[in-house]
Amino acid sequence: MHLVLIGPPGSGKGTQASRVALAWGAPHISTGDILRRAVASGSMLGDAVKDAMSRGELVSDEIMTDLVAERLADLDATSGFVLDGFPRTVDQALALDALMEERGPLAVVELSVPDDELVRRIGHRRVLEGRMDDNDAVVRERLAVYYRSTQPVIDFYKARRTLFTIDGNLPAEDVTERINLAVNPLVDLFVTQSKNASS
Ligand code: AP5
Repeated sequence: MHLVLIGPPGSGKGTQASRVALAWGAPHISTGDILRRAVASGSMLGDAVKDAMSRGELVSDEIMTDLVAERLADLDATSGFVLDGFPRTVDQALALDALMEERGPLAVVELSVPDDELVRRIGHRRVLEGRMDDNDAVVRERLAVYYRSTQPVIDFYKARRTLFTIDGNLPAEDVTERINLAVNPLVDLFVTQSKNASS
């Protein structure tokens, strides 16, 4: 089973992705975490992306698509994954469609949280973690980028019956429960179909 989590900065994508991935025994693939590790290690990828990240802008579709294609080809991702932070543009969504050929279904969860709560959560995290892109000006830019470039991805998936919009402005446990309630029927259907196909 394959799950994509989409939502503005601070909506809880990382929090929920790690919970669902743990429950499924699937890898949690966070493009933000992969990029932050690359920046910290001083790799060529890190050097190429650090300026865009520190300004709250998107890294290029080309870099991101190559990075995700490579990660999804890893053995641990062959039978499922929870993807957090990709796709963020319609071109990335089209690239993911191509990568999903001959894989199982893709569920897409949008986490919806009001802006003032996003700002509150990120402000809190800034104190705790000191992430380089959590200062006020950059957070404003990340939000603007989300509404400009990533909101159209929601419209892209809306036509499909596998998009679920979940209220992310609830305690984390309740959000997880709602994600499970939305996605589990799809998981059950997929498991039944796979069993039928192999018998
Ligand atoms: P990324 O790391 O994906 O950052 P983001 O989208 O801005 O999301 P955040 O990590 O800030 O928030 P989140 O939604 O994961 O929430 P979290 O669970 O942490 O990307 C960073 C940068 O990398 C981008 O700006 C871009 O430059 C680049 N990038 C990455 N992917 C890219 C792509 N595909 N294309 C181009 N560029 C890309 O929660 C936030 C806080 O809230 C935490 O402190 C948490 O404890 C708390 N919290 C979570 N849930 C709740 C809850 N229910 N109630 C109260 N508090 C909660």
